[in-house]
Amino acid sequence: MKKKIISMVLTTAMAAAMLAGCGSSTASTATTSTAASAATTSTASSTASKAASTATSTATSTASKDSSVVTTASGLKIGFAQVGAESDWRTACTASVKDTFSEANGFTLLFDDAQQKQENQITAIRNFIQQEVDYIVLDPVTETGWDTVLQEAKDADIPVIVVDRQVDVSDDSLYTCAIGSDFKLEGDKACAWLDAFLTAKGITDTVNIVDIQGTIGASAQIGRTQGLEDAVKAHSNWNLLAETTGEFTQAKGQEVMESFLKQYDNINVVYAENDNEAFGAIDAIKAAGKTVGSDIKNGQIMVMTFDSTKAGLTDALDGSITLDTECNPLYGPKLQEMIGQLQAGKTLDKMTYIDESMFSADTSVTKVTVSGTDYPITALTQSVIDSRSY
Ligand code: AHR
Repeated sequence: MKKKIISMVLTTAMAAAMLAGCGSSTASTATTSTAASAATTSTASSTASKAASTATSTATSTASKDSSVVTTASGLKIGFAQVGAESDWRTACTASVKDTFSEANGFTLLFDDAQQKQENQITAIRNFIQQEVDYIVLDPVTETGWDTVLQEAKDADIPVIVVDRQVDVSDDSLYTCAIGSDFKLEGDKACAWLDAFLTAKGITDTVNIVDIQGTIGASAQIGRTQGLEDAVKAHSNWNLLAETTGEFTQAKGQEVMESFLKQYDNINVVYAENDNEAFGAIDAIKAAGKTVGSDIKNGQIMVMTFDSTKAGLTDALDGSITLDTECNPLYGPKLQEMIGQLQAGKTLDKMTYIDESMFSADTSVTKVTVSGTDYPITALTQSVIDSRSY
């Protein structure tokens, strides 16, 4: 236990040095659990914490059919209920968590890929409870439907950290804290950019928009769709032709775009709710004999998207994507820092939003303003892409 606590303190200090945000707050109403409140000093090994009881445990079974035990080392046991592997973003998120909670770092990680199905995540959480993990990290497929299983985790005194997307529960003491993206802000920023872009180009005619939505009911879909719908209401010349889910996948994004192109011959802007849907949409547009790009006055179809993965930014650099609004997937170090703080007995803010950027190779808009805050648009170059890790 002592070794574990020292290790947590060191790695947390390292994570804290690397990262901003995730600060503790005495004003927070976050629930503390046995494990979370156990380790206040490196001599607290006799404290009755679940962490202590599993300090030398060795996990030998998988958490569910689709789970894999990533490490069996001594130390904290973390159960991670991941959404799936639907996108490049998701792959980067999984890699970040696996790299952080590795055997080399002294963790046992029970990883579950839910294949975008909430019922699989509920099963995984129940397995994590059975296996007496120290923490459950939940990236929820959709926002609702979590009350029962989170109550079970609470009854078992296992802290739950919600990551990336959010949960909508009747009692927020059912989870300890959350860290993720402000998806509505992402949508607002993207639409503020479109507004500024159209103004810069002197485009006042009707602009026909299609929305390839994410997984319906996921925070990332709810916020980004809402951002667009609000902006459409605020602009009399923005015409939202259609909204259909592309499930955050390239294949479905392509299928949905093919269908849109058959129904409408006047599409000016594609608002894809993630990079992979944008890749599918671009393929569909090219296959239909049309061109992608920002010159919508002359018939090009402009693609806007979210995530800013390297593949997305590469398409943005060549102009296939005109705007890529960032959604940062690198949660591993942030989660490690939060767990370190909980282990040290701190109470964390209930919700922490991460800072995110915007990228375009088109430099006609250099910043947007949303609710009085300025957000710069990073002018995309190859060196910008090369400097990023996902
Ligand atoms: O929740 C984050 C979203 O989910 C990302 O935009 C998308 O790529 C992922 O699948």
